Amino acid sequence: MTRRSERLSVRPFHYGEREALQRLWARVFPDDPPWNAPEVMIENKLKVQPELLLVGKVDGTLVGAVIAGFDGVRGWIYHLAIAPEYRRRGFATQLVRAAEDGLRRLGCPKVNLQVRAVNLRSSRSIEALDTRLRSA
Ligand SMILES: CC(C)(COP(=O)(O)OP(=O)(O)OC[C@H]1O[C@@H](n2cnc3c(N)ncnc32)[C@H](O)[C@@H]1OP(=O)(O)O)[C@@H](O)C(=O)NCCC(=O)NCCS
Repeated sequence: MTRRSERLSVRPFHYGEREALQRLWARVFPDDPPWNAPEVMIENKLKVQPELLLVGKVDGTLVGAVIAGFDGVRGWIYHLAIAPEYRRRGFATQLVRAAEDGLRRLGCPKVNLQVRAVNLRSSRSIEALDTRLRSA
C-alpha cells in the first residue's frame, strides 16, 4: 500500500468532531493568538456559514481542515491545516478546492487565501497550491 493511495473524504464539520479538530489546530498552529483559540473559532464559525468549515478525514481520522467565508464581495480561505504525517499527498489542495466550490455555490466571484505571517514558512507550498489551483 502506498501512502498516496489513501483517500481523503471532505465534508462540512460536524459538532461531534470538535475535540478532534481542536487537537489538529493545537498541533498545527501551536502559536496562535487567543482570539484563534480552537473552541472560540469553532463556536464563531458555526454561527456564520457553518457549511464552510470543512474537515478532511482518512479512514475516519480527522487529518485536515479549512475555513472559508463569503462577505458578499470577496471570499476568504484561511486556517488551512493538514496533520504533519499526512502532508504532501494533495490533501490541502483537495480541501482548498472544496472550499472554493462552497464559495462558488454562494455566488462568490473572487477568493483570497489568507496566511498569517507566522505561517509564512509554508509560503512555498501555498504558492504551489495557488499555482496548481489556477491551472486546474
Ligand atoms: C501548507 C499545508 C496546508 C500544505 O498541506 P499539504 O497537504 O502538504 O499540501 P499538498 O499536498 O496539497 O501540496 C500541494 C503542493 O504544495 C507544495 N508543497 C507542499 N508542502 C511543501 C513543502 N513543505 N515545501 C515545498 N513545497 C510544498 C508542493 O508543490 C505540493 O505538491 P507536490 O506534493 O505534488 O509536490 C501544510 O503544510 C500545513 O498544514 N502547514 C502548516 C499550517 C499552515 O501553514 N497553513 C497555511 C496557512 S494558514
